[in-house]
Formats: sequence, structure tokens, C-alpha cells
Amino acid sequence: MKKNQEALGTVERPLESAYDDHLGLVDIHHIELYVNNAKQAAHYYQTVFGFEVIGYSGLETGVRDRASWLLEQGNIRMVLTSPLTGDSPIAEHCRVHGDGVRDIAMAVKNVYTAYEECIKRGARGVTEPGEIRDDNGVIVHAAIATYGDTIHSLIDSSGYKGLFWPGFKERSSRITTEPVGIEFIDHCVGNVELGKMNDWVGFYRDVLGFSQYIHFDDSDIATEYSALMSKVMAGGRGRIKFPINEPAKGKKKSQIEEYLDFYGGPGVQHVAMLTGDILDTVSKLQSKGVEFLTVPTTYYQTLTDRVGKIDERVEDLERLGILVDRDEEGYLLQIFTKPVSDRPTLFFEIIQRKGARGFGIGNFKALFEAIEREQDKRGNL
Ligand code: FE2
Repeated sequence: MKKNQEALGTVERPLESAYDDHLGLVDIHHIELYVNNAKQAAHYYQTVFGFEVIGYSGLETGVRDRASWLLEQGNIRMVLTSPLTGDSPIAEHCRVHGDGVRDIAMAVKNVYTAYEECIKRGARGVTEPGEIRDDNGVIVHAAIATYGDTIHSLIDSSGYKGLFWPGFKERSSRITTEPVGIEFIDHCVGNVELGKMNDWVGFYRDVLGFSQYIHFDDSDIATEYSALMSKVMAGGRGRIKFPINEPAKGKKKSQIEEYLDFYGGPGVQHVAMLTGDILDTVSKLQSKGVEFLTVPTTYYQTLTDRVGKIDERVEDLERLGILVDRDEEGYLLQIFTKPVSDRPTLFFEIIQRKGARGFGIGNFKALFEAIEREQDKRGNL
């Protein structure tokens, strides 16, 4: 298996000491999506994905330019934000990109020094460090730009005892939330333009002090059409993982090019959410109507030969469409939703790790063929 893995991709797991932790990155603090209708999106992520609505900020809480809904499941906080007028930058973001991830916000130990270090190393500042206060204390916040119109907020909320952020008030929904077992964000993947992957790899390495984790090139993950290249950058002592994809030349349009066309440039392609019981999570999501990519039944006929002994029954995995991959440390189970809005852009991955720290390279071919079938239906291949 090890030999096979080496042949498939360069696995470069950095040692703890390889991380340059000048930013004091702690973890992902939250993700914020800019969406056209946050009120309805909150209902969707609650009833379909099992996130609980816990907070709201908007006109009723004294915020005049936007409405934001705060949702939570496991350790994941998701903020859904819509513009309240047509002339706001949020409205422009929604016009250009449709619904998508605006901010992968990171908790840091000291926002002032983290921001200063980022700027010194070449980051473009979006918001200078500042303190946001209410009766519950203070949040220190700054933001820097990453690919496209995506940003990274840098946040220290250790001095804040309130719900989430000044301006947010507790809010619950009349319907009961049924969590699906999603616990953490495992990784967030960015799609960038052809030829730009290494620039962004350099940004995460030089500006944020990340290390390269794994590299896949087009010989690993080309199907007949949908070639791409990918490098995985890891930071915060390996806790935060950001794979970066760029299109590679295939016979027809790469899935990454399709994304770039419809998102209007680079942006977050998918957010992978970790569960401790993928069979249960995916059963629940499917019963709520989540559409997943499916692979042909032949995938399951050769599964045990490929990945060896696993705890799950192959029939259960096949019924739910869950994919399995093994590396030298263990195996992982994963499945990908179809895009969650009408534009073929953002989607989600559900992943369970049983030792494996990779990203399912052994599934790329089956997966990309599934994506191509969808692209073909959309007339985008
Ligand atoms: Fe992924």
C-alpha cells in the first residue's frame, strides 16, 4: 500500500517543528457564507443539514446593512449573511458569486501581531485590527484577503462572554433541530485559476506559516476530462488544512474551470465536515433530501481488494454511496454532496477518519467521473 501511495502522490507530512507558528493560529473560528437570502438559507441548513439556529443579527438588533444568522453543530459555527440593500459590498459579492464562502475565520492568540506579521509578509489587509465591544466584553478582529474575494478573519474572542459577536442576539427556531452528527471542519478547499496554485501555496507558506502536506499532480487525478492539480497546506500545528486546486489540461473542461466560470473567479469549492459515524450522518442527510454524487456499483465490487478489511459492511456503504480509501495509517470514508445552490459551485464533503490523514486520492477517479456526469447534464463538459 505504501508503495502505491508513493506512486500516486507525494505525501509530505510535515513534522510538528516544520510549522512556522508566528501567527499563533488556534483553530477555525467560524465560516461565513454570503448568500442571497440568509433567512431561507438558515432554514435549509437547519432542517436539511441539522445545524441549530442559535443567533441572529440584523435590523432588530441594531445592525442596519446586513442580516446574519448564526448556526451551530458540533464544533462548527456557520454564519449566513445577506445584504439588506442593493448597494452594499455584500450585495455585490452575491451578484458576482452567488451564494458562497466569504470568510474562513481563524482564531489566533494575538490579532495585532498576527495581522502585522501577515502584512509584513505580503498579505493584503481587508480590515485593520480593532476591538468590537458590548456589555459582554471585547472581540479583537482583523481580516486579510486570500484567493478571489475570500478572506480570513483573525479573531481573538477570549475576552468575550457573549453568544458570538456584538450585535448578535440569541435566537432559536420553533422547529426542533435534529443534528446529523457533524462535529468539526476537517478541511476547506479553494479553487484558483490555472497557473496560480503555486502562488497561493506560497501565500499560505510564507504569509501564514503553513506547511505543504500532500501534493497531487495531474497524473494522479486526471480522468479523461477533469484533470486538476492540488496541494494541501496545513497550519495551526496541522489542525487547519486548506487544499488548493487549479485546473490542469484535460480533453474537455475541468470541473475546476466550471467552478471558476460560475463562481466568477477563485473561491471555496468545498467544506469537508467530520463525523464520527458516517453511516448514521449520511442516512440522516439523505432522508432530509441531500443529494450526493454517486459512483457505479462496480466501485463496490472491488472495494475490499483495494482497501482491505474495514469495520463497515460493504452493502451499507453501497446503499448510501459512501467511498473508502486507505493510506499507510488507516482508512477514511467520505461522500460529496452535489452543489448546494443552483450555480455549480460550493458543495460539502462528509468525512470520517479511521486513522487515515489523507484526502481520498484512491477515490479521485471514481469521484471525478461522477462529477463529469453531472457536468455533462449541465452542458458544461
Ligand atoms: Fe475534500
